Amino acid sequence: MGKDVIVACDFSSGEQVFSFLDKFTSRKPFVKIGMELFYAEGPAIVRAIKERGHKIFLDLKLHDIPNTVKKAMKVLSNLDVDICNLHAAGTTAMMQAALEGLTREDGSRPLLIAVTQLTSTDQESMERDLLIHEPIDQVVMHYAQTAKNAGLDGIVCSPLEAGKVHDSCGKDFLTVTPGVRFADGETGDQKRVMTPAQAKEIGSDYIVVGRPITAASDPVAAYERCVSEFCD
Ligand code: C5P
Repeated sequence: MGKDVIVACDFSSGEQVFSFLDKFTSRKPFVKIGMELFYAEGPAIVRAIKERGHKIFLDLKLHDIPNTVKKAMKVLSNLDVDICNLHAAGTTAMMQAALEGLTREDGSRPLLIAVTQLTSTDQESMERDLLIHEPIDQVVMHYAQTAKNAGLDGIVCSPLEAGKVHDSCGKDFLTVTPGVRFADGETGDQKRVMTPAQAKEIGSDYIVVGRPITAASDPVAAYERCVSEFCD
């Protein structure tokens, strides 16, 4: 898979997501399904969106004991998603078990990427609540390296970190980056943002774009603008 724009479909019902996806009559975007939609509609929503011809990043951020994650990943692999994810904080054993669970009998599997420290975690809360005292950017890079060593395909990170992750983990280690905004758009609650063109420049492999597309007056035009800035 090459560079692509993944549309974060942060909707709470199948009805909303289908009325949004119905607008895309030619190119079918790569879609991110998060916890809200998955827990509301169940695995059927994944099958239904897949049947419409979309690739799917299922963003459920698994984190549990290795055996439980392995079994859960086997179920997700059977759902035929293209990318799924977990928390690197689950440690190497959990990440390796996840890969085993994901791998189908024919050896194929969805891509597996790790969440490092959530962007909602800052230095202060990490020290206070998690008792981690290293600088947060070093913690993120360490988690990225651990994920790579466990055999994962990449991480979710800010587009600002994508270059550093490629420098330390190699250019084939995927960087999937949310926090993307158009130069002339609203930033909303995202603090550290980049335009699709800047994310391309810095080497992101996939950008995850939600509200700049889902809340646009013309979502298809906003999506095509992202694609032309990022992919072309
Ligand atoms: O609407 P917006 O473009 O901000 O959506 C970004 C998407 O990426 C949302 O689904 C959000 O949950 C997700 N995300 C993020 N920052 C992270 C990890 C995931 O914005 N660090």
